[in-house]
Amino acid sequence: MSLPEMNTPRPQRFVAKVALVTGAASGIGRATAQRLAEEGARVALADLNQPEVAGVAQAICAGGGQALALRLDVRSEADWQAAMGRILSDWGRLDICVNSAGITFAKPIMDLDFADWRRVMATNLDGVFLGTRQAMSAMKAGGGGCITNIASAAGIKPLSGNAAYGTSKAAIRFFTRVAALEGAPYRIRVNSISPGAVATPMWESTDLWPKQLAETGGRAAALKALVTDRGFAGPEEVAAAVLFLASDEARHVTGVDFPIDDAFSIG
Ligand code: NAI
Repeated sequence: MSLPEMNTPRPQRFVAKVALVTGAASGIGRATAQRLAEEGARVALADLNQPEVAGVAQAICAGGGQALALRLDVRSEADWQAAMGRILSDWGRLDICVNSAGITFAKPIMDLDFADWRRVMATNLDGVFLGTRQAMSAMKAGGGGCITNIASAAGIKPLSGNAAYGTSKAAIRFFTRVAALEGAPYRIRVNSISPGAVATPMWESTDLWPKQLAETGGRAAALKALVTDRGFAGPEEVAAAVLFLASDEARHVTGVDFPIDDAFSIG
């Protein structure tokens, strides 16, 4: 934990709230699920990686929080229906949905296989569409709620090699604004967050990683070498923004994209 506030008792902004976080086995999703639970929410942690997400949920429960682990492939409509069915039958409502599951992939367009393009779109964009649609239905029935989609600064600023990933993230930002308009009559707020570089295992899935690791000799040095000009945020710093957007303090905030990127996207 790097933020000073981590040493002070948490406020309890989400008591009696029910949250669903995708990608909760790792990185930003994991930090967000932990923070929501610490502030009193009952949290459904969903991920493709069942053993890992079960471990995170267990740790939350062991610490006195309320958590449920769900195996969910965000690309699967059937998985979404099953996950939402379970949350509604166990906890009766959904107030907060955080769509954090995502994959990264970098290749120049002329070398980019159609299959890779579609793989990135399926997880990053189809997953957010399916999750937002499912959450909006549950929230409409429950009288409102807040959805936060994790986009990326790479969806704001074009970068060579980022056609698939950046386009999927730019589309999330646009989709989020349409969802905000459609959700407003039902008191459903929909926002996105566009992080720059965040120190999570996602970087270790890039093609560049083995080379960086070999050349630098360690994880911290390899991360630093990948992002030379600006530092990395911690996943808990993105989680803090997700919690603000989900809180009553942000009750009039909808349809916005919130960059957390040290001005990367505007530089
Ligand atoms: P991560 O790799 O640490 O976590 C991603 C999680 O998503 C993993 O637990 C993985 O199992 C899960 N996942 C992948 N495909 C899935 C699927 N089909 N269904 C369900 N779960 C699936 O990555 P990180 O960094 O926490 O990324 C979270 C979000 O933040 C992603 O959408 C990513 O694109 C975005 N982001 C990350 C940045 C970074 O520098 N780490 C920067 C900007 C955006």
